[in-house]
Amino acid sequence: MPDWKHHVFVCTNKRPPGHPKGSCADRGCNEVRLAISEAIESKELYEQVKLNTSDCLGPCRQGPCMVVYPENVWYAGVTAADVAEIVQSHFIDGQPVARLLLPGS
Ligand code: FES
Repeated sequence: MPDWKHHVFVCTNKRPPGHPKGSCADRGCNEVRLAISEAIESKELYEQVKLNTSDCLGPCRQGPCMVVYPENVWYAGVTAADVAEIVQSHFIDGQPVARLLLPGS
């Protein structure tokens, strides 16, 4: 098993329509997950970055949310358009993207 540098969990929780919290699935998490998956493939990061989906991570109203371990970096409000920056800055250069950090994390 590779010794991954970053283990990424993207919340893909979906709640019923009209739920007061909404969910990351309603806010575009699947596009985020797909964009990360494609970036791992196109940049050949298979041995550095492991991507998994997760159930609710907690900060639903700020979704789509994701967390990166072992550094315990939380992102909120991520869109597919943000993924290239996260991949380059965080996963490759080691610098988390400050503007996308979950407030208070
Ligand atoms: S539904 Fe994604 S954090 Fe709760």
